[in-house]
Amino acid sequence: MPGRLDGIHALITGAAGGIGAACARRMAGEGAQLLLADLNGEAAKSLSDELGQASVQADVTRAADIDRMFELAYRRWGRLDVLFNNAGIAEARRLLELTQEEWDRTLAVNLRAVFFVLQAAAKRMRQQAPIAGSELRGKLIQTASIAAYRGGLAIMAHYGASKAGVVSITRTAAQVLAADRITSNCVCPGAVDTAMWKKIDAEWSELEGWRIGEAWKRRTSVVPLGRAETADDVAGVVSFLASRDSDYMTGQAVNVDGGLVMGN
Ligand SMILES: NC(=O)c1ccc[n+]([C@@H]2O[C@H](COP(=O)([O-])OP(=O)(O)OC[C@H]3O[C@@H](n4cnc5c(N)ncnc54)[C@H](O)[C@@H]3O)[C@@H](O)[C@H]2O)c1
Repeated sequence: MPGRLDGIHALITGAAGGIGAACARRMAGEGAQLLLADLNGEAAKSLSDELGQASVQADVTRAADIDRMFELAYRRWGRLDVLFNNAGIAEARRLLELTQEEWDRTLAVNLRAVFFVLQAAAKRMRQQAPIAGSELRGKLIQTASIAAYRGGLAIMAHYGASKAGVVSITRTAAQVLAADRITSNCVCPGAVDTAMWKKIDAEWSELEGWRIGEAWKRRTSVVPLGRAETADDVAGVVSFLASRDSDYMTGQAVNVDGGLVMGN
């Protein structure tokens, strides 16, 4: 049976861990050809070897690394159908203690790099022929967060601001690039069981004087659908956004959060 991503060439940033890796597995399983980019080049290579795909070590905050990722993709395939612009970081800090260095570090990866990766993809995509079987030339998918909407978590003002920015540039890109038949959407996960949340849990629990695991437990105990989110829960939606089934969607921020954004 043909996969729904047969013939799709996709670049995933932050592909070596958590949500990026789950999406790589899902998209490869559905027939996509992938270039897995990550700061951790060894982990990206080991996943790409396992999946029979390609990888590249890249720090998305560096312009030269952004160029290298796209050069590789275009040299390999002559085109790029889907960008999954997913790399991100998180640090738990109290609002009144957040430093300028911490603010800059988070915004550099989660917003500045997301914008310039999107821009690099769009510049190339608008010059290519449409995706086989589609009227679109390319698809841009960002990873935002429900932290964009509810003031984020009290201990992550900078993270929430960065993700609100991701929703904003997703929508601006959708407006500007529609005439080129390039769509732009983002997913907004809730609290996903990945290395990122283990780090948030450790830092947040320490700030509150809780035992390790307590922040995660409190956060996930109020998820309306009654369980914590897995990276695979996000992967199904990203794969849909990468597929031709979502061709008429653009400018959307899709919450994939078990209802958490409504619930507390
Ligand atoms: N885990 C959650 O609860 C959650 C919720 C909402 C949104 N998100 C977002 O989902 C995305 C993925 O998060 P995750 O939970 O899978 O995190 P993760 O830490 O498990 O994985 C992130 C990956 O990004 C890579 N990365 C970090 N900085 C990079 C850089 N400068 N250049 C290239 N790669 C870099 C890391 O090496 C890692 O492999 C992030 O944008 C995050 O903000 C996560």
